[in-house]
Amino acid sequence: MTDNASHLTASAREVLSLTDAERIFRIKSDRWIGYPYAKVVLKQLDDLLQHPRVNRMPNIILIGDSNNGKSTLVKRFCQLNPTVDNPEGEAVIAPVMYVQAPPVPDEGRFYNAILDLLFAPYKPSERVDKKQYQVLKLLRYAQLKVLVIDEIHQILAGSLHRQRAFLNVLKYLSNELQISIVGVGTKDALRALQTEPQLANRFKPIHLPRWEMNDDFKRLLASFGAMLPLKLPSKLHNEAIFTRLYAMSEGNIGELTSVLNTAAELAILSGNECITLDTLNQIDWTPPSERRRQFLTV
Ligand SMILES: Nc1ncnc2c1ncn2[C@@H]1O[C@H](COP(=O)(O)OP(=O)(O)OP(=O)(O)O)[C@@H](O)[C@H]1O
Ligand SMILES: [Mg+2]
Repeated sequence: MTDNASHLTASAREVLSLTDAERIFRIKSDRWIGYPYAKVVLKQLDDLLQHPRVNRMPNIILIGDSNNGKSTLVKRFCQLNPTVDNPEGEAVIAPVMYVQAPPVPDEGRFYNAILDLLFAPYKPSERVDKKQYQVLKLLRYAQLKVLVIDEIHQILAGSLHRQRAFLNVLKYLSNELQISIVGVGTKDALRALQTEPQLANRFKPIHLPRWEMNDDFKRLLASFGAMLPLKLPSKLHNEAIFTRLYAMSEGNIGELTSVLNTAAELAILSGNECITLDTLNQIDWTPPSERRRQFLTV
């Protein structure tokens, strides 16, 4: 073991003193890596928060492949702008709220999700206009500025008429409360928005691209290397390991996380305490594109 584990961040170093099982638990837990493009996007989200309330509020639609870090990014934005208690008021103060689009474009279910988040009592069978009134009132109390709606492509799971109606609800909320909306989804989300061109042109698209095999990817690997609590340094920037990790993950951060978490667990269980090419060879791994192909042919 290196004496001071200088290859690790301070918090990863602290984890080294835990048991193997606890270390593995930590490895499997969520972590945040503030890679440069994530910071660019966070800045744009923050700009929405700082924006004065105007009649036509700016909105963003964050698009990217599945498993490529969209939700992690917007949840980070929420963490950075937490809800605060307001015991004297009727609702908490929430500058930012994160909600998932209902699995079908259903206005009532959407309001239910918001009311649940605000711990507001309501009857699921209540009329939609009553729920809407309650939602507007509470979001005003909460001084909401940015409403993040994840999985927004799900609205495609309804008839064109219902898609339109749902998008009009978003427009209404944005106008009425003078809030910005951040839609998050796969590229289908853009298609969903186009259903209502008047709304679509109010959304600025931001793409979260796949990683390329370049220095940014190398730096991302370095961040993982510094955060995975292994006793010895893993030379993830080593050309052969770097190329292998890129091939296994196909430039997708979620896939990379799975590979590296599995490899780190293996490194602990084997006692090797670092990730080598050999560790990667031992993982039973099908690259995501191959997995999709297999899925489509069954
Ligand atoms: N900034 C980050 N730092 C650390 N890990 C990350 C980061 N972004 C993504 N990940 C890892 O990648 C996984 C997938 O990310 P996430 O769930 O955010 O993807 P997504 O784009 O929202 O996918 P989907 O479209 O399927 O909802 C996360 O569980 C997390 O392990
Ligand atoms: Mg997601």
